[in-house]
Amino acid sequence: METIGRKLDTPQRLYYFDELLFLPGLAKRSPRDIDVSVELGGLRLRVPLISSPMDTVTGPELASALALKGGLGVIHRNCTVPEAVDMVKAVKNAKIPEGYESTALKDGSGRLAVGAAISTSDLDRARALAQVADLLFTDVASFHNMKIYEGMKRVISTIRDTGKKVVLGNFGTKEGVMHAVKELGKENIAAIKVGMGSGSICTTTDVTGVGSPAAFATEQAALALSELGLLDEIPIISDGGIRHSRDIALCMGLGASMAMLGNVFARCEESAGEKVERDGKLHKVYWGMGSAQARKKRLALDRYQASGKEVNEGIRMYVPVEGRVDDVVDRLVAEMQVTMGYVGAANVKEMREVTRIVVRNATAPKVEPD
Ligand code: IMP
Repeated sequence: METIGRKLDTPQRLYYFDELLFLPGLAKRSPRDIDVSVELGGLRLRVPLISSPMDTVTGPELASALALKGGLGVIHRNCTVPEAVDMVKAVKNAKIPEGYESTALKDGSGRLAVGAAISTSDLDRARALAQVADLLFTDVASFHNMKIYEGMKRVISTIRDTGKKVVLGNFGTKEGVMHAVKELGKENIAAIKVGMGSGSICTTTDVTGVGSPAAFATEQAALALSELGLLDEIPIISDGGIRHSRDIALCMGLGASMAMLGNVFARCEESAGEKVERDGKLHKVYWGMGSAQARKKRLALDRYQASGKEVNEGIRMYVPVEGRVDDVVDRLVAEMQVTMGYVGAANVKEMREVTRIVVRNATAPKVEPD
């Protein structure tokens, strides 16, 4: 029995955003002419940003604000089915103010587009949300699970008549993505969402010792889709631990088209978290869906593996309010365009194709402001 030695020999090393850098490429366009739009499940997102389906992040207010900017909000599922349906309807009924018409993410009838989280073990929820939302997102910590594949097959046949597509996630390995495509069929996958254990409120890795941080998971998914010849057909969404525009750009360099953000959007005026004053400054509460606080509602517990005793996989934090979705998205996009300029990519697809990424030295000097 020599399994230990062999396992530790596996030439795999996890890496995190702050360890990676792009090398400069041949810049061809000025940043403002760089196209950051992407395709997802029949929708054209002008901005490659998606908000996490978390009950302190995405309710109708944030989802509407993000859709007005051209991104996509995903309504959380830590609520009853009628409550989730009502939140989706509230986005659909939101008025599109003048000035946003050309930028907004809209459905076929000119209303704002919105996504909704589902569970693979709740067919009623999937059916109800497929009637009203534009796109569904399975919301589980690790999709690579026999029970979830079986549940997903039932979801697919339940919603088939609606023609609605489903984003599957989250995945952390090449094997997981290969398995999902083979088991469920590429035609049933709107996108693959990746990243496990790397969210800012996530303690999954600390508690269980299992994880695949978003940058690494993105490359894993890209390897799988590339081997299957589906890299241009099935987009990858990176999720968990993405705080800066440079993180989003790195995900794109590794093969993703879009990023899902929890913490960043929790800091917006429009987030679903409660506002609280701390040290004289406005904050919002932000917690993981596996935290004790979110678990109290008991409606999204099946996001995680069930055990004899409940195991928390998330924490609560207070984040300062940093502004409105409008400003946050404008800043992220402007910064991303500058990165894309430096690396010589004219659009998101070229980020994957033309960029070179290197691992930076751990002793690299940091600039510290006064
Ligand atoms: P953030 O953008 O770094 O804050 O990460 C948000 C992501 O963390 C979400 O989109 C989920 O994929 C994931 N997540 C949400 N709640 C939990 C939790 O309680 N434990 C682990 N991961 C979580």
